[in-house]
Amino acid sequence: MRAASRVLGLACCALLAATPVGTLDSTARPRSCRPSVPESCTLRELASLAGIRFGSTAEQAEVADPQYASTLAREFSSLTPENAMKWYSVQPAPGHWSFAQSDAIVDFAQAHSMEVRGHTLVWAQDRYTPSWVTAISDTQALRTAVAVQIATVMTRYAGRVHRWDVVNEPLDTLGTGPSRNVFRTLGPDWIADAFRFAHAVDPAAQLWINEYGTDWVPGKHDAYLALVRDLVTRGVPIHGVGLQVHRLPGQVADGAALRAQIQDFADLGLEVAVTELDVPTLPSDPNALTEQATEYETIVRACLSVRACREVTTWGLTDRYTWLDSLGYLEVPTRPLLFDDDYRRKPAYDSVRAVLAEVASTAHCHRGHGIRCHRHRTGGGT
Ligand code: XIL
Repeated sequence: MRAASRVLGLACCALLAATPVGTLDSTARPRSCRPSVPESCTLRELASLAGIRFGSTAEQAEVADPQYASTLAREFSSLTPENAMKWYSVQPAPGHWSFAQSDAIVDFAQAHSMEVRGHTLVWAQDRYTPSWVTAISDTQALRTAVAVQIATVMTRYAGRVHRWDVVNEPLDTLGTGPSRNVFRTLGPDWIADAFRFAHAVDPAAQLWINEYGTDWVPGKHDAYLALVRDLVTRGVPIHGVGLQVHRLPGQVADGAALRAQIQDFADLGLEVAVTELDVPTLPSDPNALTEQATEYETIVRACLSVRACREVTTWGLTDRYTWLDSLGYLEVPTRPLLFDDDYRRKPAYDSVRAVLAEVASTAHCHRGHGIRCHRHRTGGGT
């Protein structure tokens, strides 16, 4: 990786312009929005006043769909390509690059003053890595493949994508050890090397790690914390920690525990984000939608209570399109998002809006290049 890093790093970095990082939603400046009247505001406006980004995923077909697109642009300030930037999408075969989908999404985000979370450069699970990559047995060839992937994608979007999930899901699916994947053949330092290389490609980019199940798989938070602490201690260029927070149907979140987990990463000096929130409902539960609303509120509040947590992204926006139903997760629709099949706001939308409004009305915001806010504590976080 390091040899490739030097070569590719020099080639690509000269192209990069220095860009401000971490600026919050600068154009959605509330005009008629008054946080004391939450109904007068969109989620995006309130999130901006509360000092966070509020995000959703999108696919190319969704940004081309007028109903999806208008909801996305109105309510969300950050956009995560659901699949379009993944290795299997942009380089499905060696040297065959395909950026039409991710370009369309980044163009949409720019046109609507949304930030993009680049997701994801390396996904540490073989089943989500193209088979031509998992088939590489020569270590140097694999190193080069990783370097080319990172350099090509980051360079293409330099100056337009300011934060990247460099490594996604480094831990075992339901366990606490490193995930079994082809990249481990690069040696125990492969994650650190991926971050160092990404930093060489675009020194202005914020580099994130992202993991799921840390909120509910026993021991997984501690394993994630140990991994991230080790990277920080060794001076590896890492700036943010993503907690996916895909919930299970019927689970009840412990807000204090989640806040403490977020705080653990904040204490390492890193930014934190809830990157992939969704809350599937139990079809048999007549109170499912109100319980879902409470669950969303608890999770958003946990983020807002720690100053270093500056993004909540929901994994989609309408129940009409959710990866859970595409997977056949339950035999019935899971209804995990803030808008129903017909883009009507659900109780969960109202509860998220209420908690954002509560914090927005007490936040101090400085407007300059973007809006920078300092939140008061809501329940003990910093
Ligand atoms: C999922 C997409 O939503 C699906 O469409 C795709 O088939 C598989 O990936 N964790 C992640 C996301 O980091 O990238 C995953 O997205 C959901 C779980």
